[in-house]
Amino acid sequence: MTIQYLHASKFGNGAKIAAEFKRQMATDGVAVEVHHIRDVKASAPARADLYVFSSPGRMGRPIGGMRRFLKKLRLPAGTRYALLTTEMAPKPDKKTGRMPTEEELARWQRIRPLMNEVLQAKGLVLVAEDKVHVGGLKGPLEDAWEDKVGAFASRIALGVADVPRDAATGSATRTRHGSTELEAGSARVR
Ligand SMILES: Cc1cc2nc3c(=O)[nH]c(=O)nc-3n(C[C@H](O)[C@H](O)[C@H](O)COP(=O)(O)O)c2cc1C
Repeated sequence: MTIQYLHASKFGNGAKIAAEFKRQMATDGVAVEVHHIRDVKASAPARADLYVFSSPGRMGRPIGGMRRFLKKLRLPAGTRYALLTTEMAPKPDKKTGRMPTEEELARWQRIRPLMNEVLQAKGLVLVAEDKVHVGGLKGPLEDAWEDKVGAFASRIALGVADVPRDAATGSATRTRHGSTELEAGSARVR
């Protein structure tokens, strides 16, 4: 059972997440190979049971390198994948102090929808998706980000084990770094 974790980290936050994901999956006996996309040939990526794609946000979209990589990517239809992006934490409106609603955010933060669009057009199958927030343009990662990565890793471990969907979305959340529980709906598993 192998996972290829392909990221496009520019300032290092996404690279840290990749390393943490690898560490957590290793405790489940799942091997993860982490690569920056600049070191991977999109037309012939190494074989894996599952691919995780991770991109930072840029003007509401995935960073350009990831957009080009996904466009060129060649994998057989039916290949399973997951997304774990790094995105700016929402901020309150400067004038009103009001936080944007999910709907408002989704209008300009189209990072994962755009990645899904390209990958699903190639017949790839989404297993899970989530984001980790950064506080500013270059970071730092949100508090307790390791827990979020742990919860995501749990879902992936269940996903690659091909357990029934109910079990995958149930309460089998592990919290290796503290007491944070997986937020309902923070990651999707199919
Ligand atoms: C020019 C620029 C534009 C950005 N635009 C967005 C954006 O639209 N949405 C977003 O979530 N993050 C945006 N970010 C912040 C990135 O999310 C952040 O740089 C990234 O998550 C950090 O990950 P990395 O350290 O792995 O590169 C932007 C950053 C820069 C430098």
